[in-house]
Amino acid sequence: MSRIAYVNGQYVSHADAAVHVEDRGYQFSDGVYEVVTVIDGRLIDEEPHLDRLWRSLNELRIEIPMSRASFRVVTREMIRRNRIRTGIIYMQVTRGVARRDHPFPKAAEPAVVMTAKPIRLPSDAQSEAGIRVITIEDIRWPRRDIKSVSLLPNILGKQQAKEAGAGEAWQVDKDGFVTEGTSTNAWIVTKDNRLLTRNANNDILNGITRLRILQLAEAHGLTFEERPFTVEEAYDAKEAFISSSTNFCSPVTEIDDKVIGNGRAGELSLSLRKAYREFVDGLEPAVA
Ligand code: PDD
Repeated sequence: MSRIAYVNGQYVSHADAAVHVEDRGYQFSDGVYEVVTVIDGRLIDEEPHLDRLWRSLNELRIEIPMSRASFRVVTREMIRRNRIRTGIIYMQVTRGVARRDHPFPKAAEPAVVMTAKPIRLPSDAQSEAGIRVITIEDIRWPRRDIKSVSLLPNILGKQQAKEAGAGEAWQVDKDGFVTEGTSTNAWIVTKDNRLLTRNANNDILNGITRLRILQLAEAHGLTFEERPFTVEEAYDAKEAFISSSTNFCSPVTEIDDKVIGNGRAGELSLSLRKAYREFVDGLEPAVA
């Protein structure tokens, strides 16, 4: 079966899908994106993702390209046409096509692209083994709350992690506090069982999975705190994990060659992972 992409109002073969050479996303990273996950036919937290897309567009003063209802329709159509059971929908909006010039163009219309691909979720055994994380300097701009397609520091960091045999790099601000991973939010559990993740302001992307985990933690009566934590606090933690739409809650067992806890996935991390899975299983399928 061939993959289908959505490009500015049309469903086209993925192999032939293209945007203009003067799309401002291509030339200036002048665009925003979202990644929405589908698990067993269920769309996870679509509405919060659309809320964040709207917010990112507003912050960059990019015109809203189409209604929320249209986004919902196209998302479902992408799931259907690509026969996605478990996978991701990537949606991107740029300021559009215009002769290359730095100020906003007067007449450009925003461009909307969506792609879909199946993914394999990590097995329970893989999650329980945990991943390694390295720490790196956070060299990004100060508006990390906007989900912009400008991801150079993120991809350099992820490549550095990969070359170090790690699954993620935690970025560290100039004061020694962890901001977040290159494509995930960062969490630790202290020795006195407090769940910690950085508070959401311009320093981090306010992950939709992060918000969902906080809500699940609250529902399960866990003690949590939203505040920055240092690299030393992370080394000293009882547990650590990362969260994102594609990882949901993935235990971390090593940070910069320091073993976290007993070197196995933590109890609280696994129970949050289970709670997340139960939340997903309780959702209605997105397409019949
Ligand atoms: N990344 N922080 C950063 C820098 C991210 O890029 C992401 C998501 C997250 C987690 O956000 P959420 O829980 O809403 O997925 C945190 C996506 C998955 C990506 O770029 O592929």
